[in-house]
Amino acid sequence: MERLMEDKITARAPSSTANIGPGFDVFGLALDAFYDIVTLEIIQTHSIQVEIHGEHGKAIPLKVEANAAGLVIKKMIEDHHIESGLKIIIEKGVPAGYGVGSSAASASATAIAFNAMFNLNLDKNSLVRYAAMGEVATAGSIHYDNVSASLLGGFVIVRTEPLSFVKIDAPKDLTLCVVVPKINVPQKKTEIARSVLPTQVSLKQLTSNVANACTIVAGFMLGDVELIAKAVNDVVVEPARKRLIPGYEQLKKNALDAGALAVTISGAGPSMISFSKVGQNAENICKAMENGFKSANVDSKGFICKPSDGAKII
Ligand code: HSE
Repeated sequence: MERLMEDKITARAPSSTANIGPGFDVFGLALDAFYDIVTLEIIQTHSIQVEIHGEHGKAIPLKVEANAAGLVIKKMIEDHHIESGLKIIIEKGVPAGYGVGSSAASASATAIAFNAMFNLNLDKNSLVRYAAMGEVATAGSIHYDNVSASLLGGFVIVRTEPLSFVKIDAPKDLTLCVVVPKINVPQKKTEIARSVLPTQVSLKQLTSNVANACTIVAGFMLGDVELIAKAVNDVVVEPARKRLIPGYEQLKKNALDAGALAVTISGAGPSMISFSKVGQNAENICKAMENGFKSANVDSKGFICKPSDGAKII
């Protein structure tokens, strides 16, 4: 039985960066660089319709099974025996396919909007589970790092067996520069970026990544940006993916020379992200990173950002 509260409801969810170096599929950080706004509207026909607005929405499929928000709604409708037809209207603010949590933002906003619309009272863990269904549209499989950050906000650690999330507020003096290259990305970019990863790691690589990941968590717990940045070093995923990023080496060097405390691939890329403290010259760091892409003849745009709160009904 449907307990419809509203026939139209709107939610907003932020962009995010995943992995933060050694935390592949484990760490997510919500970023206030971009937001998606999703409106759900009851329609008279018994169907799910997807409508997308905005420059970043042009290449996103409207077919329900190929759309992050569509997949979330499909599953929530099935599980909760909802009989209404729904239109999903997405105001796409997060660039799609660039490693800044685009599908996660649409999926997270959709999950909380649906929860509110039908008064389901789902807990945060269930909402993250539903939002993660949307990742299948672009990654071909479920991963929780971007969706948990986008939905819960701040820095999030994902445990998958059993599934649970730990949220830590990010230090107030953490500033990030995320630089988005102007290159064409394939529809299933994340699936491709995952296909280049090793399936086995050495004990030495495991030790290195565990030590760095633990140090990052300690840095967030202590609110110590320098400690976080010191440990943004991944010896497993980043070495396999860096060849997918034009100008990677130069960009990293430029950012560090300009004063960034750390630089890594944002999620599955191709955007790159740097870590610095409030008071450092973030404009210079952004520019230096853009020049790194330029060294490979790629234009890009840098965005100075801060950690964000999670998804909200607006
Ligand atoms: N952890 C995921 C990956 C994030 O790196 O493939 C994708 O956005």
